[in-house]
Amino acid sequence: MKFLTVKIHKILNNKIFESVSKASDDLNQESYVIGGYVRDLYLERPSQDFDIVTLGSGIDLAEKVAASLKPRPKVTVFKNFGTAHFRFKNIEVEFVGARKESYRSDSRNPIVENGTIEDDQKRRDFTINALALSLNPSDMGTLVDPFNGLEDLKNKIIRTPLDPSITFSDDPLRMMRAIRFAAQLGFEIETKTLQSIAGNKDRIRIVSVERITEELNKIILSPKPSVGFRLLEETGLLGIILPELTQMKGVDVVKGVGHKDNFYHTLEVLDRISPHTDNLWLRWSALLHDIAKPATKRYIEGQGWTFHAHNFLGGKMIPRIFSRMKLPLNDKMKYVQKMVMLHMRPIVLSEEEVSDSAVRRLLFETGDDIDDLMTLCEADITSKNPEKVKRYMKNFTIVRQKLKEIEEKDAVRNFQPPVSGELIMETFGIPPCREVGIIKDAIKEAILEGEIHNDYEEAYRFMLEKAKELNLTPVKGAD
Ligand code: CTP
Repeated sequence: MKFLTVKIHKILNNKIFESVSKASDDLNQESYVIGGYVRDLYLERPSQDFDIVTLGSGIDLAEKVAASLKPRPKVTVFKNFGTAHFRFKNIEVEFVGARKESYRSDSRNPIVENGTIEDDQKRRDFTINALALSLNPSDMGTLVDPFNGLEDLKNKIIRTPLDPSITFSDDPLRMMRAIRFAAQLGFEIETKTLQSIAGNKDRIRIVSVERITEELNKIILSPKPSVGFRLLEETGLLGIILPELTQMKGVDVVKGVGHKDNFYHTLEVLDRISPHTDNLWLRWSALLHDIAKPATKRYIEGQGWTFHAHNFLGGKMIPRIFSRMKLPLNDKMKYVQKMVMLHMRPIVLSEEEVSDSAVRRLLFETGDDIDDLMTLCEADITSKNPEKVKRYMKNFTIVRQKLKEIEEKDAVRNFQPPVSGELIMETFGIPPCREVGIIKDAIKEAILEGEIHNDYEEAYRFMLEKAKELNLTPVKGAD
């Protein structure tokens, strides 16, 4: 197989592998590179991590390999887990002794070393992640594949090496990993493995939230995230980890009038935004933009289905969801909150005559995130009516154009008041008080309404007029 020879040649030339090969020979223990690196080698995906498994002590091997490299990397040893790793020229190299029991260091099962290479392979998550290439001088580069992982790679199948219930019981996070790999690689999960996920879904509760969220983020960042979310929903995992999303499923009908299924609409929006952005937080915004629709859903006679203020309630739900999912509670959360709260604005804008002041207000509220908001809004148009889509898209083009014009003219994107509170106090000889706030707000409003330009001279003159209404006079020399 030509393909294989080329790859193996590449492996033989790698300094680290050469060194592992020599050190293993000296220690008289067999070693293999295994897991994600081998999988990605065949898939021609870039991979920066090497997992080395050896029939003996992984720690001894790591020390010996490190000693032979220049500059010598610092080895970190985890005695309790029998693992060691170092970083060499941006490559993370992990060493572990072959095990008979579960592979995972955070599994509750005991770590039993001194297994054969096959013992180790069968305790791994999927056949495609259990491929091993020999690093032994006698057969360097030979593929060891007792579970037909290469066949599964070619057929794009995710399958566990053992009975799935054993593999998932070793580490229930693997259920999420199966779905994540399906979404990332565009693979299918073999039926028995998929059924086992549905059957074991409740065991996900023993896994730490951080690990679940890490997998969820990878699903969100995959090329077509709906693949992963449909699987999460079908297996019942989604109802456990993000019930707010499954609550969006379904269509209510009153007097023959139904609304759209908000869950599938959300997945469509997420898929539609993905080709335009790899920003995890913009993708999270797409996922959560309609999260408050179930809570705000009403059927109003003569009007049909309404979701009044779902954007505001949605924004309020974000901190709770972020905190539960152990997502960052910082500016990333605020960004998602802002996107959810404002996601209706460009649509409303585009439905009316697009006024300068409305555009200015939107720019003021979104700041530098305006482009992201427009991207979200465009992805949100999932109507099946081509005429409607055309109209919206045309109006969005007008909104974008107007945004550009207003920004060039008025520079309100990162609004800084042209007249500061200090200047107001100085001019009228007043301490910090209510009037300072009133004048500042009035200046901001006048700029947003287009009554004056975002300009020092005009704002100063406006301040003097406003102050007069408040019976304030400038102190001598100030005007
Ligand atoms: N592994 C496992 N069970 C897990 C996690 C990992 O059996 N729950 C094994 C698999 O053989 C996997 C290897 O450990 O290939 C390395 O794991 P990791 O670095 O987490 O994942 P990769 O497969 O390398 O993929 P990615 O880097 O995309 O996470």
